[in-house]
Amino acid sequence: MSVDVKTIEALFKEGRTFAPSEEFRAQANVSNDSLYKEADADIEAFWARQAEKYVSWYKKWDTTLEWDLPFAKWFAGGKLNAAYQCLDRHVAAGKGDKVAYLFEGEPGDTRSITYKQLLDEVCRLANALKGLGVKRGDRVGIYLGMIPELPAAMLACARIGAPHCVVFGGFSADAVADRMQDAGAVCLITQDEAWRRGKAVAMKHNADEACDKAETIKNMVVVRRTGAEVSMVAGRDHWYHELIADQSSECEPEVMDAEDLLFTLYTSGTTAKPKGIKHTTAGYMLQAMYTHDIVFNIHPDTVYWCAADIGWITGHTYIVYGTLGNGTTNILYEGTPDYPVKDRWWEIVEKYKATVLYCAPTAIRTFMKWGPEFPQKHDLSSLKLLGTVGEPINPEAWIWYRQFIGADSIPVVDTWWQTETGGIMVAPLPGVTTLKPGSATKPLPGIRAAVVDEAGKEVSPGGGGYVVLTHPWPGMLRGIWGADERYKETYWATYGDRYLAGDGARIDTDGYFWFMGRVDDVMNVSGHRISTTEVESALVDHPSVAEAAVVGKADEQTGQTIAAFVTLRSGIEGSTELVAELRNHVGKLIGPIAKPKFITFTPELPKTRSGKIMRRLLRDVSEQRLLGDTTTLADTGVVHELQRRAAEEAGKEA
Ligand code: WTA
Repeated sequence: MSVDVKTIEALFKEGRTFAPSEEFRAQANVSNDSLYKEADADIEAFWARQAEKYVSWYKKWDTTLEWDLPFAKWFAGGKLNAAYQCLDRHVAAGKGDKVAYLFEGEPGDTRSITYKQLLDEVCRLANALKGLGVKRGDRVGIYLGMIPELPAAMLACARIGAPHCVVFGGFSADAVADRMQDAGAVCLITQDEAWRRGKAVAMKHNADEACDKAETIKNMVVVRRTGAEVSMVAGRDHWYHELIADQSSECEPEVMDAEDLLFTLYTSGTTAKPKGIKHTTAGYMLQAMYTHDIVFNIHPDTVYWCAADIGWITGHTYIVYGTLGNGTTNILYEGTPDYPVKDRWWEIVEKYKATVLYCAPTAIRTFMKWGPEFPQKHDLSSLKLLGTVGEPINPEAWIWYRQFIGADSIPVVDTWWQTETGGIMVAPLPGVTTLKPGSATKPLPGIRAAVVDEAGKEVSPGGGGYVVLTHPWPGMLRGIWGADERYKETYWATYGDRYLAGDGARIDTDGYFWFMGRVDDVMNVSGHRISTTEVESALVDHPSVAEAAVVGKADEQTGQTIAAFVTLRSGIEGSTELVAELRNHVGKLIGPIAKPKFITFTPELPKTRSGKIMRRLLRDVSEQRLLGDTTTLADTGVVHELQRRAAEEAGKEA
């Protein structure tokens, strides 16, 4: 089958929609709209029924929802353990030999880990952590690449009731230190080195640097991955394999309260300091499992591949808690899509006979650019469903994905959600919903969302505005670690009783949501959230920089790229070397993903008369658009000069 881009465009222009096929409906977990009706009739009773269905409780809850705006308690009084939920109960049900993870290492090494084996490893590590003095309620940092020890470490923490705080393996030592300090972590689990496109990344070295600053960390556990020699600090550092070798493979799970903290995960907001988003046990587990089941149409023989990184919320929910909670077999891939060949992903799909693939639109647009010949080398006929997450998907990419990866026959589910929501919020039910390429369709049963104008009034069909969530949901964040006021301010100050998502969307005449991207100072680069302010403060941290303004510049492939406008201290000249130095400086303080692609030096930044930097104008400049309203601008000369320089920069890049 071959379809060229023109055909794809034509399909899109026709406004083609895709109703579920008879074949799909016949095996769909949900094939009619009864769940929507039940949830509309009584939302709390609906969630209570789901909680009975999905969660194994030590003790049933007393109240389904206690809502003390903006603080929610779901299933208060209920007792459970997330690791038990993900492992023990499957083993007890005779599914111990089922594969939990099919691990594919970047260099090509593989491991197949059953539920029973994973349970053994988790118990050993849980005992080892206890031996190091880690107690219920202590925070444990995890800084690992995509290796099986990462989910094992998370579950070991969950087992003993120690909330984990995973830091994406691509973050720098400083970023790890900041998060560990904020969380007050007592222990950090890391690895010697990580594979990255055939090169080794010095994770232990970064962890050492982080520990120099984060003084609460008393112990470090080091997984051996590449086998490189690393320095071990006596008394503080322990090899993972040595530590767990003599431990018992039995460890009684802690009986946790529904509202006990399961983890914090840091995400970028509109200020320089990342926020530690808090998720608790029962509500999060329920939403993770329920959404995983109904959106991805999970069956006992599903081979599920979520190609995100566990260091982000997508991986937490759909590579660990939701999917293990449902007892599903998962592919866990360590590397990048193009190493060593551009068909590595399709090799993996074919080899493991993946039935579900869930990835970011950025990846799809990259595959489009490489061309269909790479997927066409492989038999992808095992696939039954495709999903996307992390950023708006353009209809062309949606159709390409269905066409070339999905043999023009299987559903594509676009799923909208956030670190804060814990699990999917707006997405189709593949056996029920008629799909429209580019739309995440409608809120799931049990989820209430709306699009409102500035004044908070719901927009009429066809209109656009701000996305709000109008009823508490089980997987919702329970706040920001150590910052209740900030939690209220960020999400609840605008509309009072409705959660402000920070996204813009249009709603069409069928009530379908079309997400348009962030409306605040958060950028979305390749599906990763990065705050403009965070990058600005990293730039200003450099001794040559007086002032910096950062904006997200639209990019065909990655959604946005980072463009920085920098004013240097007097006497310092801009140069190509300085550009490289500034980019590296940001890389060091945050991580390579936050390095600005474009840096334009400017003697002045455009500001309003009250001194506020005009970002909108800078976005226009960086995207080389005609300028919008400049009436509040203090000095228009600044902008014309900036336009000239930004055009020059963009020219260099091309
Ligand atoms: C964006 C990732 C459009 C959105 C799960 C949101 C999306 C932010 C979609 C959260 C989608 C996520 N369509 N935009 N299907 N999914 N986003 O916290 O701007 O890393 O606010 O969570 O990603 O990013 P986060």
